[in-house]
Amino acid sequence: MTAAALPAAGRANAGCADHADRSIALARKARGPYLARIMAIREILEVPDPRLKIVSTPVEPHEFGPELNQLVEDMFETMYDAPGIGLAAIQVGVPKRVLVIDLQPDDPDAPPVECSLDGHKHTHPATKKEPRVFINPVILDPAKELSTYQEGCLSVPEIYADVDRPATCTVRYQDLEGNTHEEALDGLLATCLQHEMDHLEGILFIDHLSRLKRAMVLKKLDKIRRA
Ligand code: NI
Repeated sequence: MTAAALPAAGRANAGCADHADRSIALARKARGPYLARIMAIREILEVPDPRLKIVSTPVEPHEFGPELNQLVEDMFETMYDAPGIGLAAIQVGVPKRVLVIDLQPDDPDAPPVECSLDGHKHTHPATKKEPRVFINPVILDPAKELSTYQEGCLSVPEIYADVDRPATCTVRYQDLEGNTHEEALDGLLATCLQHEMDHLEGILFIDHLSRLKRAMVLKKLDKIRRA
């Protein structure tokens, strides 16, 4: 997921392309020990790639291990580079029930990040890294109350639209060690998790729009691509 009118990632996206690179550089620095590992930015599938319609299969007990860890590392690297706040494995062509999310909230304790690449010197609020991994996630009790966010998606570039989803939910998921957790989510995290879980069923956020609106969006996307 990408967030248009939302904190951190949205601002970075709209304001200055360099900011994202900068935060990745800082993240790399902060993640010191991981530098020894080889991480890779993978290609993100975009509509109308038919693989985005695949229903992803569960990660089986024997599949936890180095290969899954590498997939998750690569997904974070790919998501931060894009930049986005959530990514499902199928978006990099792996039909497994694996999601990564980092809402990259503002960090009030860190000095603002200076930036000048878009022609004038300015600053962005520094962001914190809060990487989250959800393996085999299941939503247990979606709220009846809905909330609306302007959503975007790395697989539907440059398109943003309001989507209604349950405002809160509890998710049951496994971590990279295979341990099961339950967590109550609200706000942007609840929305983002539900957006990413849709990907596991082969559903895109534009599939929540009316037929007319979706047709308009796809036409716009086509126009952007041909420009
Ligand atoms: Ni998406």
